[in-house]
Amino acid sequence: MGNAKDASQSYIVVTGGAGFIGSHVVDRLANQGHRVVVIDDLSTGSKANLKKWDGDRRVTLIEADVAEGIEPSLKNIEGTPDRFVHLAAQTSVVHSLEHPLHDQRINARGTLAVAEFARQVKAKKLVFASSAAVYGDVDTVPTPEDAPLAPQSPYGIHKLLGEHYLRMYSEVHGLPTVPLRFFNVYGPRQDPKSPYSGVISIFLDRATQGVPLRIFGDGEQTRDFVFVGDVVTMITSALFNEPKAAENPAAGAFNVGTGSTITVNTLAERVREACNSDSPIEHADARPGEIRHSCAQVARAEQQFGFRATITVQDGLAETATWFRTQVAPPNVKQ
Ligand code: NAD
Ligand code: UD1
Repeated sequence: MGNAKDASQSYIVVTGGAGFIGSHVVDRLANQGHRVVVIDDLSTGSKANLKKWDGDRRVTLIEADVAEGIEPSLKNIEGTPDRFVHLAAQTSVVHSLEHPLHDQRINARGTLAVAEFARQVKAKKLVFASSAAVYGDVDTVPTPEDAPLAPQSPYGIHKLLGEHYLRMYSEVHGLPTVPLRFFNVYGPRQDPKSPYSGVISIFLDRATQGVPLRIFGDGEQTRDFVFVGDVVTMITSALFNEPKAAENPAAGAFNVGTGSTITVNTLAERVREACNSDSPIEHADARPGEIRHSCAQVARAEQQFGFRATITVQDGLAETATWFRTQVAPPNVKQ
């Protein structure tokens, strides 16, 4: 990675760019020739995710906490950023229930700090990673964006607050903003090491090791799993394009999912098949504060941005399983 000043095209700040989704966003943008400055405190992200950009002028990593404000992070970088992708977050629903004030600091104050800086520099676009967690336990599945919002965790509440900050910045200050409600994202580089990690990364890691897959509750809860490559396509589309319809571009968020679900029980079986693993399946108590069913209605993103997820769970799991096999230690070395 190098100094950002010589790179071409847009100058884009990606907060959380050393993380799972963020590093794929950085790869896509830098490969398109944009200049990318990552602001990341490396709390869950890692330099290894950006290693391929070492010595490359297109990508610069600034190690900093977004909740402290954005201006100090960029003071030694030449130029003014014109677009922002805000992904930095505390990402675990469970952690937010146990540490709500910490979640508020990163997910509410951090988002306000990014929006405020984007306003000051008159950014052309701010794309924000919101979450399906803003819906809470819904009556309508697949869930449209205008469904009632009743988040059941501090994480969901603070993501919703972030959406409101962006709406206010759009309406009051004219800042173009796009909140994207990601459903369950998975793919290479998702870190399985925390108990709060995404279920696919945990299951793939454990299946590769031949240790038990633990299902919380009866396993009949459903999730809409969307591959990271599709999510990056939606992020970059929202970053550079305007919605097609006449409706106010500042109005509302966009679901980012596939529109299909599988149960956690089925997922466990699919992971065992993808890894050719005979890991046993165990059950444990359901997690508190969890939603039961989660599935995106995908029409709005398709109508407005022409986005439709294209990677099936089967193909996405196969690709992610291949990546895990190259990353993890051989069986019996760990655990
Ligand atoms: P991740 O943990 O890999 O990425 C988050 C990144 O933010 C990490 O690199 C971390 O080091 C960084 N970060 C955390 N706190 C920070 C702070 N105070 N200052 C600067 N950097 C900080 O997780 P991810 O899955 O890539 O999530 C990216 C975004 O997408 C998050 O906003 C998350 O809430 C959202 N999201 C993810 C999913 C999913 O299924 N993975 C679903 C819905 C929403
Ligand atoms: C995930 C995201 C969250 C996002 C939300 C959007 C992560 C860590 N969290 O939350 O950021 O806002 O999607 O929909 O990516 N499970 C097991 N065994 C395990 C782990 C999990 O059975 O070892 C189950 C959970 O109980 C849950 C399901 O798998 O029912 C999915 O869990 P998880 O991957 O943690 O994601 P969400 O809580 O849905």
